Amino acid sequence: MLTVVILAAGKGTRMVSSKPKVLFDLAGKKMIDYPISVALSLKPKKIIVVLGNKAEEVEEYISKYKVDIVIQKAQLGTADAVKTALPKIVAGSKVLILSGDMPLIDKDLLTTFIDETTSDVSFISTKVDNPEGYGRVLRASKQDVIKIVEEKDCNENEKNIHEINSGIYLSTLSKLKELLKGVKPNNSQKEYYLTDIIMHGSGSFISKESEKFLGVNTREQLSVVSKKLWLMRAKYHLNNGVDIIDPTNCYLDDDIVIGTDTEIYPNVTIKSGSKIGKNCKIFNNSVIDNSIIADDVEIKYGSVIESSKIGSKSTVGPMARLRPGTVLKGLNKIGNFVEIKESEFGIGSQASHLSYIGDATIGKDVNLGCGFITCNYDGASKHKTVVGNNVFVGSDVQLIAPIKVGDNVLIAAGSTIVKDINSSDLAVARSEQKNIKGAGLKYLTKNKKKKR
Ligand code: UD1
Ligand code: MG
Repeated sequence: MLTVVILAAGKGTRMVSSKPKVLFDLAGKKMIDYPISVALSLKPKKIIVVLGNKAEEVEEYISKYKVDIVIQKAQLGTADAVKTALPKIVAGSKVLILSGDMPLIDKDLLTTFIDETTSDVSFISTKVDNPEGYGRVLRASKQDVIKIVEEKDCNENEKNIHEINSGIYLSTLSKLKELLKGVKPNNSQKEYYLTDIIMHGSGSFISKESEKFLGVNTREQLSVVSKKLWLMRAKYHLNNGVDIIDPTNCYLDDDIVIGTDTEIYPNVTIKSGSKIGKNCKIFNNSVIDNSIIADDVEIKYGSVIESSKIGSKSTVGPMARLRPGTVLKGLNKIGNFVEIKESEFGIGSQASHLSYIGDATIGKDVNLGCGFITCNYDGASKHKTVVGNNVFVGSDVQLIAPIKVGDNVLIAAGSTIVKDINSSDLAVARSEQKNIKGAGLKYLTKNKKKKR
Protein backbone atom coordinates (compact mmCIF):
# COMPACT_ATOMS: atom_id res chain seq x y z
CA MET A 1 0.00 0.00 0.00
CA LEU A 2 1.33 3.39 -1.00
CA THR A 3 0.70 7.02 -0.04
CA VAL A 4 2.35 9.68 -2.18
CA VAL A 5 3.19 13.04 -0.62
CA ILE A 6 3.96 15.91 -3.00
CA LEU A 7 5.74 18.93 -1.52
CA ALA A 8 4.55 22.15 -3.09
CA ALA A 9 4.33 24.72 -0.32
CA GLY A 10 7.63 26.49 -0.95
CA LYS A 11 7.88 30.16 -1.78
CA GLY A 12 9.75 29.59 -5.01
CA THR A 13 11.87 32.64 -4.16
CA ARG A 14 14.37 31.90 -6.94
CA MET A 15 11.64 32.25 -9.61
CA VAL A 16 11.35 35.97 -8.68
CA SER A 17 7.61 36.03 -9.24
CA SER A 18 4.33 36.82 -7.51
CA LYS A 19 3.01 33.56 -8.93
CA PRO A 20 3.43 30.26 -7.03
CA LYS A 21 6.22 28.21 -8.61
CA VAL A 22 4.09 25.13 -9.23
CA LEU A 23 1.60 27.15 -11.31
CA PHE A 24 4.16 28.18 -13.90
CA ASP A 25 3.31 27.05 -17.44
CA LEU A 26 5.48 24.21 -18.57
CA ALA A 27 5.18 22.53 -21.97
CA GLY A 28 1.43 22.95 -22.27
CA LYS A 29 0.55 22.24 -18.63
CA LYS A 30 1.27 23.71 -15.21
CA MET A 31 4.31 22.47 -13.30
CA ILE A 32 2.16 20.81 -10.62
CA ASP A 33 0.37 18.67 -13.24
CA TYR A 34 3.54 16.62 -13.74
CA PRO A 35 4.10 15.20 -10.22
CA ILE A 36 0.36 14.67 -9.75
CA SER A 37 0.09 12.76 -13.04
CA VAL A 38 3.05 10.55 -12.26
CA ALA A 39 1.70 9.94 -8.74
CA LEU A 40 -1.70 8.97 -10.17
CA SER A 41 -0.03 6.53 -12.59
CA LEU A 42 1.26 4.56 -9.57
CA LYS A 43 -2.35 4.02 -8.39
CA PRO A 44 -1.59 4.80 -4.73
CA LYS A 45 -4.11 4.56 -1.92
CA LYS A 46 -3.85 8.32 -1.43
CA ILE A 47 -2.04 11.38 -2.81
CA ILE A 48 -1.41 14.26 -0.40
CA VAL A 49 -0.30 17.61 -1.77
CA VAL A 50 1.32 19.98 0.74
CA LEU A 51 0.46 23.60 -0.10
CA GLY A 52 1.43 26.85 1.61
CA ASN A 53 2.52 29.79 -0.47
CA LYS A 54 -0.58 31.06 -2.39
CA ALA A 55 -2.33 27.86 -1.32
CA GLU A 56 -5.81 28.94 -2.50
CA GLU A 57 -4.65 29.56 -6.05
CA VAL A 58 -2.93 26.19 -6.29
CA GLU A 59 -5.81 24.42 -4.56
CA GLU A 60 -8.28 25.79 -7.08
CA TYR A 61 -6.14 24.64 -9.99
CA ILE A 62 -5.66 21.10 -8.66
CA SER A 63 -9.28 20.68 -7.59
CA LYS A 64 -9.72 18.68 -10.85
CA TYR A 65 -7.67 15.86 -9.30
CA LYS A 66 -8.68 13.37 -6.64
CA VAL A 67 -6.00 14.37 -4.12
CA ASP A 68 -5.92 15.40 -0.46
CA ILE A 69 -4.55 18.80 0.42
CA VAL A 70 -2.79 19.85 3.60
CA ILE A 71 -1.61 23.34 4.39
CA GLN A 72 1.85 24.05 5.77
CA LYS A 73 1.28 27.41 7.49
CA ALA A 74 4.89 28.60 7.55
CA GLN A 75 7.49 27.33 5.12
CA LEU A 76 9.96 26.03 7.70
CA GLY A 77 11.55 23.49 5.37
CA THR A 78 10.91 20.23 3.54
CA ALA A 79 10.87 18.09 6.71
CA ASP A 80 8.27 20.39 8.27
CA ALA A 81 6.21 20.09 5.06
CA VAL A 82 6.16 16.29 5.37
CA LYS A 83 5.22 16.61 9.07
CA THR A 84 2.05 18.51 8.13
CA ALA A 85 1.05 15.60 5.90
CA LEU A 86 1.59 12.90 8.57
CA PRO A 87 -1.96 12.89 10.02
CA LYS A 88 -3.43 12.14 6.59
CA ILE A 89 -1.06 9.36 5.56
CA VAL A 90 -2.83 6.00 5.32
CA ALA A 91 -1.88 3.85 8.32
CA GLY A 92 0.54 1.04 7.51
CA SER A 93 1.39 2.41 4.06
CA LYS A 94 4.73 3.10 2.47
CA VAL A 95 5.27 6.79 1.86
CA LEU A 96 6.73 8.05 -1.41
CA ILE A 97 7.79 11.70 -1.20
CA LEU A 98 8.05 13.79 -4.37
CA SER A 99 8.59 17.50 -4.97
CA GLY A 100 6.32 19.76 -6.95
CA ASP A 101 9.28 21.00 -8.98
CA MET A 102 10.60 17.87 -10.75
CA PRO A 103 8.57 17.50 -13.89
CA LEU A 104 10.68 14.90 -15.71
CA ILE A 105 10.23 12.03 -13.25
CA ASP A 106 8.38 9.12 -14.84
CA LYS A 107 6.43 6.08 -13.75
CA ASP A 108 9.06 3.46 -14.74
CA LEU A 109 11.71 5.13 -12.63
CA LEU A 110 9.48 5.35 -9.54
CA THR A 111 8.20 1.79 -9.96
CA THR A 112 11.76 0.44 -10.10
CA PHE A 113 12.73 2.49 -7.05
CA ILE A 114 9.75 1.20 -5.06
CA ASP A 115 10.26 -2.42 -6.19
CA GLU A 116 13.97 -2.45 -5.40
CA THR A 117 13.81 -0.71 -2.04
CA THR A 118 14.21 -3.03 0.93
CA SER A 119 15.29 -0.54 3.64
CA ASP A 120 12.80 1.23 5.92
CA VAL A 121 13.93 4.53 4.45
CA SER A 122 15.64 5.18 1.15
CA PHE A 123 16.13 7.90 -1.46
CA ILE A 124 17.15 8.30 -5.08
CA SER A 125 20.48 9.84 -5.95
CA THR A 126 22.19 10.41 -9.27
CA LYS A 127 25.52 11.63 -10.59
CA VAL A 128 25.59 14.88 -12.55
CA ASP A 129 28.30 16.97 -14.23
CA ASN A 130 27.14 20.14 -12.56
CA PRO A 131 25.85 19.49 -9.01
CA GLU A 132 25.39 23.18 -8.20
CA GLY A 133 22.30 23.90 -6.11
CA TYR A 134 21.57 20.28 -5.15
CA GLY A 135 22.15 18.41 -1.90
CA ARG A 136 25.36 16.31 -2.07
CA VAL A 137 25.47 12.66 -1.00
CA LEU A 138 28.29 11.84 1.42
CA ARG A 139 29.31 8.17 1.58
CA ALA A 140 31.69 6.22 3.79
CA SER A 141 31.97 3.52 1.13
CA LYS A 142 30.16 2.67 -2.10
CA GLN A 143 27.23 1.18 -0.22
CA ASP A 144 27.22 3.22 2.94
CA VAL A 145 25.57 6.63 2.90
CA ILE A 146 26.60 8.97 5.72
CA LYS A 147 24.34 11.93 5.04
CA ILE A 148 23.12 14.54 2.56
CA VAL A 149 24.61 18.03 2.78
CA GLU A 150 22.86 20.98 1.18
CA GLU A 151 24.88 23.21 -1.15
CA LYS A 152 24.72 26.08 1.34
CA ASP A 153 26.21 23.92 4.08
CA CYS A 154 28.91 22.27 1.96
CA ASN A 155 32.61 22.80 2.54
CA GLU A 156 34.90 23.03 -0.51
CA ASN A 157 35.51 19.26 -0.64
CA GLU A 158 31.82 18.47 -0.37
CA LYS A 159 31.04 20.91 -3.16
CA ASN A 160 33.15 18.72 -5.45
CA ILE A 161 30.88 15.70 -4.91
CA HIS A 162 28.87 14.97 -8.06
CA GLU A 163 26.38 12.53 -6.53
CA ILE A 164 23.26 14.54 -5.69
CA ASN A 165 20.01 14.02 -3.83
CA SER A 166 17.06 13.80 -6.24
CA GLY A 167 14.58 14.81 -3.52
CA ILE A 168 12.61 11.54 -3.88
CA TYR A 169 12.28 9.38 -0.78
CA LEU A 170 10.50 6.17 0.22
CA SER A 171 9.85 5.21 3.83
CA THR A 172 7.56 3.18 5.99
CA LEU A 173 5.19 5.43 7.91
CA SER A 174 6.53 4.37 11.30
CA LYS A 175 10.17 4.97 10.35
CA LEU A 176 9.28 8.33 8.80
CA LYS A 177 7.53 9.48 11.99
CA GLU A 178 10.47 8.43 14.10
CA LEU A 179 13.05 10.12 11.85
CA LEU A 180 11.13 13.40 11.49
CA LYS A 181 11.13 13.78 15.27
CA GLY A 182 14.92 13.96 15.16
CA VAL A 183 15.19 16.68 12.48
CA LYS A 184 16.53 19.96 13.87
CA PRO A 185 17.05 23.25 12.02
CA ASN A 186 20.81 23.17 12.56
CA ASN A 187 21.91 24.53 9.20
CA SER A 188 22.73 27.78 7.46
CA GLN A 189 19.08 28.34 6.44
CA LYS A 190 17.66 27.44 9.88
CA GLU A 191 15.19 25.15 8.13
CA TYR A 192 13.94 21.67 8.90
CA TYR A 193 15.61 19.72 6.09
CA LEU A 194 14.01 16.48 4.94
CA THR A 195 17.47 15.41 3.84
CA ASP A 196 18.27 14.84 7.53
CA ILE A 197 16.14 11.66 7.57
CA ILE A 198 18.90 10.09 5.47
CA MET A 199 21.79 8.87 7.61
CA HIS A 200 24.14 5.98 8.20
CA GLY A 201 22.16 2.81 7.41
CA SER A 202 19.61 4.39 5.05
CA GLY A 203 19.03 2.78 1.69
CA SER A 204 19.88 4.51 -1.55
CA PHE A 205 19.00 3.95 -5.17
CA ILE A 206 21.47 5.37 -7.64
CA SER A 207 19.79 6.20 -10.91
CA LYS A 208 21.76 6.53 -14.14
CA GLU A 209 19.02 8.68 -15.69
CA SER A 210 20.32 11.90 -14.21
CA GLU A 211 18.53 14.14 -16.72
CA LYS A 212 15.18 13.13 -15.23
CA PHE A 213 15.95 14.77 -11.87
CA LEU A 214 16.31 18.32 -13.10
CA GLY A 215 14.63 20.44 -10.46
CA VAL A 216 13.01 23.73 -11.40
CA ASN A 217 14.12 26.43 -8.99
CA THR A 218 14.82 29.25 -11.45
CA ARG A 219 13.29 30.45 -14.71
CA GLU A 220 16.45 29.36 -16.48
CA GLN A 221 15.91 25.80 -15.24
CA LEU A 222 12.26 26.08 -16.30
CA SER A 223 13.34 26.85 -19.86
CA VAL A 224 15.79 23.94 -19.89
CA VAL A 225 13.16 21.48 -18.63
CA SER A 226 10.58 22.87 -21.00
CA LYS A 227 12.89 22.35 -24.00
CA LYS A 228 13.49 18.75 -22.87
CA LEU A 229 9.78 18.02 -22.59
CA TRP A 230 9.02 19.42 -26.07
CA LEU A 231 11.87 17.38 -27.51
CA MET A 232 10.68 14.19 -25.79
CA ARG A 233 7.22 14.66 -27.31
CA ALA A 234 8.67 15.32 -30.79
CA LYS A 235 10.76 12.14 -30.51
CA TYR A 236 7.69 10.14 -29.53
CA HIS A 237 5.91 11.21 -32.72
CA LEU A 238 9.03 10.74 -34.89
CA ASN A 239 9.12 7.13 -33.69
CA ASN A 240 5.47 6.77 -34.62
CA GLY A 241 5.85 7.70 -38.27
CA VAL A 242 5.42 11.48 -38.14
CA ASP A 243 7.89 13.70 -40.02
CA ILE A 244 9.09 16.57 -37.87
CA ILE A 245 11.35 18.89 -39.79
CA ASP A 246 12.94 20.44 -36.69
CA PRO A 247 12.26 18.45 -33.51
CA THR A 248 13.89 21.17 -31.42
CA ASN A 249 11.35 23.69 -32.62
CA CYS A 250 7.85 22.28 -32.37
CA TYR A 251 5.41 22.45 -29.50
CA LEU A 252 3.24 19.38 -29.14
CA ASP A 253 1.04 18.92 -26.07
CA ASP A 254 1.16 15.46 -24.58
CA ASP A 255 -2.36 14.20 -25.28
CA ILE A 256 -2.47 14.81 -29.02
CA VAL A 257 -2.63 12.23 -31.81
CA ILE A 258 -0.84 12.60 -35.16
CA GLY A 259 -1.28 10.12 -38.02
CA THR A 260 1.55 8.52 -39.99
CA ASP A 261 3.33 10.35 -42.79
CA THR A 262 2.07 13.71 -41.59
CA GLU A 263 4.72 16.43 -41.84
CA ILE A 264 5.17 19.04 -39.14
CA TYR A 265 7.18 22.10 -40.18
CA PRO A 266 9.12 24.34 -37.78
CA ASN A 267 7.46 26.41 -35.08
CA VAL A 268 4.15 24.58 -35.13
CA THR A 269 2.08 24.40 -31.92
CA ILE A 270 -0.47 21.63 -31.48
CA LYS A 271 -2.44 21.96 -28.27
CA SER A 272 -4.36 19.64 -26.04
CA GLY A 273 -7.33 17.72 -27.46
CA SER A 274 -6.13 17.82 -31.07
CA LYS A 275 -6.15 14.86 -33.43
CA ILE A 276 -4.40 15.12 -36.78
CA GLY A 277 -4.91 12.51 -39.50
CA LYS A 278 -2.48 10.81 -41.88
CA ASN A 279 -0.60 12.45 -44.74
CA CYS A 280 -1.26 15.98 -43.56
CA LYS A 281 1.14 18.88 -43.86
CA ILE A 282 1.18 21.44 -41.08
CA PHE A 283 3.29 24.35 -42.24
CA ASN A 284 5.39 26.82 -40.27
CA ASN A 285 3.99 29.01 -37.50
CA SER A 286 0.54 27.40 -37.40
CA VAL A 287 -1.33 26.80 -34.15
CA ILE A 288 -3.87 24.01 -33.81
CA ASP A 289 -5.83 23.91 -30.58
CA ASN A 290 -8.37 21.27 -29.57
CA SER A 291 -9.22 20.49 -33.18
CA ILE A 292 -9.83 17.38 -35.26
CA ILE A 293 -8.14 17.27 -38.64
CA ALA A 294 -8.84 14.40 -41.06
CA ASP A 295 -6.39 12.82 -43.54
CA ASP A 296 -4.62 14.59 -46.41
CA VAL A 297 -5.19 18.11 -45.08
CA GLU A 298 -2.77 20.99 -45.62
CA ILE A 299 -2.58 23.76 -43.05
CA LYS A 300 -0.45 26.46 -44.63
CA TYR A 301 1.86 29.01 -43.02
CA GLY A 302 0.65 31.01 -40.02
CA SER A 303 -2.87 29.62 -39.64
CA VAL A 304 -4.69 29.46 -36.31
CA ILE A 305 -7.30 26.75 -35.72
CA GLU A 306 -9.31 26.48 -32.49
CA SER A 307 -11.96 23.91 -31.52
CA SER A 308 -12.71 23.13 -35.16
CA LYS A 309 -13.13 20.07 -37.40
CA ILE A 310 -11.51 19.86 -40.79
CA GLY A 311 -12.56 17.21 -43.30
CA SER A 312 -10.14 15.33 -45.52
CA LYS A 313 -8.33 16.83 -48.50
CA SER A 314 -8.99 20.38 -47.37
CA THR A 315 -6.46 23.19 -47.48
CA VAL A 316 -6.43 26.04 -44.99
CA GLY A 317 -4.32 29.21 -45.09
CA PRO A 318 -1.80 30.69 -45.33
CA MET A 319 -2.86 33.01 -42.52
CA ALA A 320 -6.39 31.75 -42.05
CA ARG A 321 -8.19 31.84 -38.72
CA LEU A 322 -10.70 29.15 -37.85
CA ARG A 323 -12.41 30.05 -34.59
CA PRO A 324 -14.39 27.66 -32.37
CA GLY A 325 -17.26 25.84 -34.03
CA THR A 326 -15.85 25.77 -37.56
CA VAL A 327 -16.68 22.55 -39.39
CA LEU A 328 -15.27 21.89 -42.86
CA LYS A 329 -16.82 18.72 -44.29
CA GLY A 330 -13.99 17.94 -46.72
CA LEU A 331 -12.33 19.04 -50.00
CA ASN A 332 -12.64 22.65 -48.81
CA LYS A 333 -10.31 25.46 -49.64
CA ILE A 334 -9.97 28.26 -47.11
CA GLY A 335 -7.49 30.84 -48.29
CA ASN A 336 -5.51 33.73 -46.86
CA PHE A 337 -7.06 36.20 -44.43
CA VAL A 338 -10.27 34.24 -44.07
CA GLU A 339 -11.88 34.13 -40.62
CA ILE A 340 -14.58 31.57 -39.88
CA LYS A 341 -16.58 31.16 -36.65
CA GLU A 342 -19.43 28.78 -35.69
CA SER A 343 -19.98 27.85 -39.31
CA GLU A 344 -20.19 24.74 -41.42
CA PHE A 345 -18.91 24.35 -44.99
CA GLY A 346 -20.30 21.48 -47.11
CA ILE A 347 -18.02 19.29 -49.21
CA GLY A 348 -16.07 21.13 -51.89
CA SER A 349 -16.97 24.67 -50.81
CA GLN A 350 -14.39 27.41 -50.68
CA ALA A 351 -13.60 30.92 -49.50
CA SER A 352 -10.24 31.72 -51.00
CA HIS A 353 -9.49 35.28 -49.98
CA LEU A 354 -10.24 37.96 -47.38
CA SER A 355 -13.55 36.92 -45.83
CA TYR A 356 -15.49 36.76 -42.59
CA ILE A 357 -17.98 33.93 -42.21
CA GLY A 358 -19.80 33.72 -38.86
CA ASP A 359 -22.87 31.74 -37.72
CA ALA A 360 -23.39 30.35 -41.22
CA THR A 361 -24.27 27.07 -42.86
CA ILE A 362 -22.76 26.90 -46.31
CA GLY A 363 -23.87 24.03 -48.61
CA LYS A 364 -21.79 21.90 -50.98
CA ASP A 365 -19.71 23.24 -53.89
CA VAL A 366 -20.21 26.87 -52.96
CA ASN A 367 -17.73 29.52 -54.02
CA LEU A 368 -17.55 32.55 -51.74
CA GLY A 369 -15.72 35.27 -53.67
CA CYS A 370 -12.97 37.55 -52.43
CA GLY A 371 -14.10 39.94 -49.71
CA PHE A 372 -17.33 38.05 -48.92
CA ILE A 373 -18.80 38.90 -45.50
CA THR A 374 -21.64 37.55 -43.42
CA CYS A 375 -23.07 40.50 -41.47
CA ASN A 376 -24.12 38.31 -38.56
CA TYR A 377 -24.19 40.87 -35.74
CA ASP A 378 -26.61 43.77 -35.51
CA GLY A 379 -25.01 45.29 -32.44
CA ALA A 380 -27.21 43.34 -30.05
CA SER A 381 -27.55 39.77 -31.25
CA LYS A 382 -26.10 37.27 -33.71
CA HIS A 383 -28.11 35.96 -36.67
CA LYS A 384 -27.81 32.93 -38.95
CA THR A 385 -26.90 32.81 -42.62
CA VAL A 386 -27.91 29.77 -44.66
CA VAL A 387 -26.53 29.19 -48.16
CA GLY A 388 -27.66 26.20 -50.29
CA ASN A 389 -25.63 23.95 -52.61
CA ASN A 390 -23.80 24.92 -55.79
CA VAL A 391 -24.00 28.66 -55.15
CA PHE A 392 -21.60 31.15 -56.72
CA VAL A 393 -21.10 34.33 -54.71
CA GLY A 394 -19.17 37.08 -56.52
CA SER A 395 -16.51 39.23 -54.89
CA ASP A 396 -17.32 41.86 -52.27
CA VAL A 397 -20.75 40.53 -51.39
CA GLN A 398 -22.35 40.97 -47.98
CA LEU A 399 -25.19 38.79 -46.74
CA ILE A 400 -27.09 40.60 -44.00
CA ALA A 401 -28.34 37.96 -41.55
CA PRO A 402 -30.80 36.47 -40.83
CA ILE A 403 -30.89 35.38 -44.44
CA LYS A 404 -31.41 32.31 -46.63
CA VAL A 405 -30.00 31.64 -50.06
CA GLY A 406 -31.37 28.64 -52.06
CA ASP A 407 -29.47 26.17 -54.29
CA ASN A 408 -27.90 27.05 -57.65
CA VAL A 409 -27.98 30.77 -56.94
CA LEU A 410 -25.69 33.36 -58.53
CA ILE A 411 -25.00 36.56 -56.59
CA ALA A 412 -23.40 39.41 -58.53
CA ALA A 413 -20.18 40.96 -57.28
CA GLY A 414 -20.56 44.01 -55.08
CA SER A 415 -24.06 43.13 -53.89
CA THR A 416 -25.37 43.80 -50.39
CA ILE A 417 -28.07 41.18 -49.97
CA VAL A 418 -30.87 41.88 -47.48
CA LYS A 419 -33.63 39.60 -48.80
CA ASP A 420 -33.75 35.79 -49.10
CA ILE A 421 -32.95 34.39 -52.56
CA ASN A 422 -34.90 31.49 -54.05
CA SER A 423 -33.14 28.53 -55.67
CA SER A 424 -31.90 29.01 -59.23
CA ASP A 425 -32.16 32.84 -59.12
CA LEU A 426 -29.60 35.53 -59.88
CA ALA A 427 -29.43 38.36 -57.34
CA VAL A 428 -27.92 41.75 -58.13
CA ALA A 429 -28.08 44.48 -55.50
CA ARG A 430 -26.09 47.48 -56.64
CA SER A 431 -27.03 50.79 -58.25
CA GLU A 432 -26.89 51.08 -62.03
CA GLN A 433 -23.67 52.45 -63.50
CA LYS A 434 -23.54 55.76 -65.39
CA ASN A 435 -20.59 56.76 -67.63
CA ILE A 436 -20.31 60.56 -68.05
CA LYS A 437 -18.33 61.57 -71.10
CA GLY A 438 -15.03 63.43 -70.36
CA ALA A 439 -15.87 64.09 -66.71
CA GLY A 440 -13.00 61.95 -65.48
CA LEU A 441 -10.25 63.91 -67.18
CA LYS A 442 -11.86 67.21 -66.21
CA TYR A 443 -11.92 66.28 -62.53
CA LEU A 444 -8.37 64.94 -62.48
CA THR A 445 -6.94 68.04 -64.17
CA LYS A 446 -8.66 70.39 -61.72
CA ASN A 447 -7.57 68.30 -58.75
CA LYS A 448 -3.94 68.25 -59.84
CA LYS A 449 -3.84 72.06 -60.11
CA LYS A 450 -5.23 72.47 -56.60
CA LYS A 451 -2.47 70.24 -55.13
CA ARG A 452 0.37 72.34 -56.64
C1 UD1 B 1 15.78 20.02 -2.36
C2 UD1 B 1 16.63 19.17 -1.43
C3 UD1 B 1 17.98 18.90 -2.13
C4 UD1 B 1 17.77 18.23 -3.46
C5 UD1 B 1 16.81 19.05 -4.32
C6 UD1 B 1 16.39 18.27 -5.55
C7 UD1 B 1 16.05 19.77 0.88
C8 UD1 B 1 16.47 20.52 2.07
N1 UD1 B 1 16.86 19.85 -0.17
O1 UD1 B 1 16.43 21.27 -2.55
O2 UD1 B 1 18.79 18.05 -1.31
O3 UD1 B 1 18.99 18.04 -4.13
O4 UD1 B 1 15.60 19.36 -3.59
O5 UD1 B 1 15.65 19.04 -6.44
O6 UD1 B 1 15.05 19.09 0.91
N2 UD1 B 1 8.75 22.89 0.13
C9 UD1 B 1 7.66 22.89 0.98
N3 UD1 B 1 7.76 23.51 2.20
C10 UD1 B 1 8.90 24.11 2.62
C11 UD1 B 1 10.01 24.11 1.74
C12 UD1 B 1 9.92 23.50 0.52
O7 UD1 B 1 6.62 22.34 0.63
O8 UD1 B 1 8.90 24.64 3.73
C13 UD1 B 1 8.62 22.24 -1.19
C14 UD1 B 1 8.88 23.17 -2.36
O9 UD1 B 1 7.67 23.78 -2.78
C15 UD1 B 1 9.48 22.25 -3.41
C16 UD1 B 1 10.12 21.13 -2.60
O10 UD1 B 1 9.58 21.22 -1.29
O11 UD1 B 1 8.50 21.69 -4.26
C17 UD1 B 1 11.63 21.26 -2.55
O12 UD1 B 1 11.96 22.55 -2.07
P1 UD1 B 1 13.06 23.46 -2.77
O13 UD1 B 1 13.14 24.73 -2.06
O14 UD1 B 1 12.85 23.47 -4.23
O15 UD1 B 1 14.37 22.62 -2.41
P2 UD1 B 1 15.72 22.56 -3.21
O16 UD1 B 1 16.57 23.71 -2.85
O17 UD1 B 1 15.45 22.32 -4.63
MG1 MG C 1 13.78 22.45 -5.79
